[in-house]
Amino acid sequence: MTPMPIPTSMIDPFGRSVSYLRVSVTDRCDFRCTYCMAEDMTFLPKKDLLSLEELDRLCTVFVEKGVRRLRLTGGEPLVRKNIMHLVRQLSRHLASGALEELTLTTNGSQLYRFADELADCGVRRINVSMDTLDPDKFRAITRWGDLSRVMESIEAAERAGLKIKINAVALKGFNDTEIPSMIEWAHGRGMDMTVIETMPMGEIDADRTDQYLPLSQLRAELERRYTLTDIPFKTGGPARYVEVAETGGRLGFITPMTHNFCESCNRVRLTCTGTLYMCLGQDDAADLRHSLRASEGNELLSNAIDEAIGRKPKGHDFVIDRRTKRPAVSRHMSVTGG
Ligand code: GTP
Ligand code: 5AD
Ligand code: SF4
Repeated sequence: MTPMPIPTSMIDPFGRSVSYLRVSVTDRCDFRCTYCMAEDMTFLPKKDLLSLEELDRLCTVFVEKGVRRLRLTGGEPLVRKNIMHLVRQLSRHLASGALEELTLTTNGSQLYRFADELADCGVRRINVSMDTLDPDKFRAITRWGDLSRVMESIEAAERAGLKIKINAVALKGFNDTEIPSMIEWAHGRGMDMTVIETMPMGEIDADRTDQYLPLSQLRAELERRYTLTDIPFKTGGPARYVEVAETGGRLGFITPMTHNFCESCNRVRLTCTGTLYMCLGQDDAADLRHSLRASEGNELLSNAIDEAIGRKPKGHDFVIDRRTKRPAVSRHMSVTGG
């Protein structure tokens, strides 16, 4: 076996070290959450996708350059054909110690089929997106999702020993009054939960102004009912956590709209076509597919990554209001991965 090169960590122009890669393995999804996608979405032609071998090669170069955490996202990562092959391949970097964490963000529709194998590959925790516990509302927000399947998945993941975090996008008039019961449900099962502000990414059928709920407002409402204490707990992501005294569980707030956390950003995002986005909320990107395919060695690719990190922007500037009609970036969240 060839020895792993010593990582030269990737530092951006603002002195932030990039140690976290999120990979959207497909832009497709078996749901159509109303805040995420239009009902009638055009997905990328299959021929534009990187193969699983190419994705592995790209991820491996990032790991060699100092990435310590890898998260597979989508779309829905588990709808990509043969995805477990990629997970299995990537798990060698966990075994070698080069990677600290290999994980995944999923909508839970298929997780029940893969939970055991994920655990076997060394995945320790996963994030499951779920915005309501009411089956009818769940069907409405996802446009056709089946909540009982997601519940089955959560049970399968628990049995497999995976630690689960529930991610809920806070939506005005949809789940704001339900958040307390979701917290109690999640914490009652020993799961962390985070709430997320909706971001203006891609054209959707609904008006985002109607959906947007600032989390400062949600927190104030929760504080009337619960004792929330800020805690220093960090998973490496943008969530700021509190402990809920009444449940003993952790609740995270992800606030891209009301509080910008970009100063501590440690991540970049790779799409399934090999495009590297240095920020979720900006259009600038680097085409790594070209460098990947231009030669068999990794030098070109490595240089292209350095060049891209060298222009990672300071942060996002999202706005949701009645005057701002266009989304901050035209691509949907499902292209870049959350
Ligand atoms: P862990 O902390 O590792 O659990 O990950 P995470 O919470 O960052 O990952 P997850 O996939 O659960 O992300 C939740 C959501 O947070 C994403 O879907 C995005 O909506 C948001 N988010 C994550 N990272 C960023 C970021 O760098 N910028 C912005 N604007 N939003 C982000
Ligand atoms: N704003 C905020 N979060 C979003 N997600 C999808 N679209 C948006 C958006 N426009 C969330 C999903 C999932 C994660 C991957 O991203 O609900 O939790
Ligand atoms: Fe699919 Fe996630 Fe978007 Fe819902 S939020 S449509 S589950 S990618």
